Amino acid sequence: MNDNCAVILAAGEGRRMKSSKPKVLCEVLFKPMIDWVTANAIAGGIDNICVVTGHLGDSVRCHLNPSIKTAVQDKLLGTGHAVMQAKDFIKEHGGSGNVLILNGDAPLMDSETLKTSLNFHVRNENAVTVITAKVDNPYGYGRIVRKDDDTLLKIVEERDATQDERAINEINSGAYWFNSQALLTALEEILSSKKENSSKEYYLTDTIEVILGFNLKATAFYAKSPNVALGANDRLQLQQLNEIARKSVMDSLLLEGVSIPCADGVIIGPDVTIGKDTTILPGTIIKGKVNIGENCTIGPNSLIENTVVGDNTTINTSQCVESVVADNVQIGPFVRLRPHSNIGSNVKIGNFVEIKNANIGDETRISHLSYIGDSDLGSDVNVGCGCATVNFNGSTKNRTVVGNGAFIGCNNSLVAPVSIGDRAYTAAGSTITEDVPADSLALARAKQVIKKDWVKHKSPYKK
Ligand code: UD1
Ligand code: MG
Repeated sequence: MNDNCAVILAAGEGRRMKSSKPKVLCEVLFKPMIDWVTANAIAGGIDNICVVTGHLGDSVRCHLNPSIKTAVQDKLLGTGHAVMQAKDFIKEHGGSGNVLILNGDAPLMDSETLKTSLNFHVRNENAVTVITAKVDNPYGYGRIVRKDDDTLLKIVEERDATQDERAINEINSGAYWFNSQALLTALEEILSSKKENSSKEYYLTDTIEVILGFNLKATAFYAKSPNVALGANDRLQLQQLNEIARKSVMDSLLLEGVSIPCADGVIIGPDVTIGKDTTILPGTIIKGKVNIGENCTIGPNSLIENTVVGDNTTINTSQCVESVVADNVQIGPFVRLRPHSNIGSNVKIGNFVEIKNANIGDETRISHLSYIGDSDLGSDVNVGCGCATVNFNGSTKNRTVVGNGAFIGCNNSLVAPVSIGDRAYTAAGSTITEDVPADSLALARAKQVIKKDWVKHKSPYKK
């Protein structure tokens, strides 16, 4: 796609969302709406993207990938005015071609619709192509008003519409392909006129009538699915978009061979891949960038975030965040993998174990009630019940290193920095403060004392 670019409108205050963050950072499947929109534009083949920011603009700009350009709308004077703030960008990147305008609060406008509508736009030599959809409840959207011959007449906003116009159920998605020159000329005309609509804003939607007045072509393009046209102005609509996106992600995973026997409480983000024969059980949330292999069982009641999981792994009632888990691993129930946990293959991590910033070698077992933080455990290590790496001395974090085949007895404290050699043993109940050489046994606990018949002589008050 040469000489095409996209402008995404994201300056609005989003008052109806009742949020302290900008509306476009509100999330659908845990992904900010603006990220859906930029990803869709990129997937639609558009390299040059400019986001118009305004209300809480710093937080939107900080959030965006640096490859995306921004323009600032100081005063929120409407969508038409917002587009004009990107005038220089449009001239530079789409000057002799077409520009795609997208709303930052319409995350489901997919790349397929963007591509087919551009083909339609170019083939018909349109000056503007509005992407529209027929919906059951058009309330709140701009309505598509057609002439008797069914061609486009104008877009009228809910608040400016007559009763008859409100009955129209074809809505404006807020996504349009414009011939760049026609757009800028139409907007100049709109911005130099008085705002006559009820909001006293410069509407982008008014460009349709202006462009038709230039005797250029303005046409509506029906989206295949009405869902792509939906936007979120308030929490109710945001919830609807979440439900639509949730179902669509799950449907495509099911068709790819993933089992979700009961979808109750299952939420899977759009940037998740899952291999075939993997089962996702109820109450499981998989968010961010996650890759899960084949033949795994994830859940019930688990959270997997920005994590990679190999094949044949089980994660039961556990949380894994920013971690890597290899093949044939058993995790849970009640395990917490905090960021930078790297779990080797055939590892077993059992109930009530917390792991943070640690490498756990293949075949290692940490079966119960332990904390392993800032550590490097080799392969085939056995960590007994109730062990803790003592990684924090109040001011610095220190590492614990455990060699291959080592055996850490129950209830050990490994006071870091400390290192246990290959095949070494530590006795149960030890507090290990010094390095243990390979093949050695370390006993670091008080010797047991027996006081014979102590109970008999214990106290005169004994019953
Ligand atoms: C807009 C359309 C409506 C369409 C609907 C689709 C207009 C006038 N109306 O209505 O026809 O059916 O989207 O969802 O365009 N924005 C700015 N600067 C502003 C105002 C808005 O950047 O001064 C941004 C917002 O951040 C938002 C987008 O433009 O991302 C749309 O604005 P919004 O207020 O949500 O318009 P709608 O009422 O939804
Ligand atoms: Mg909106």
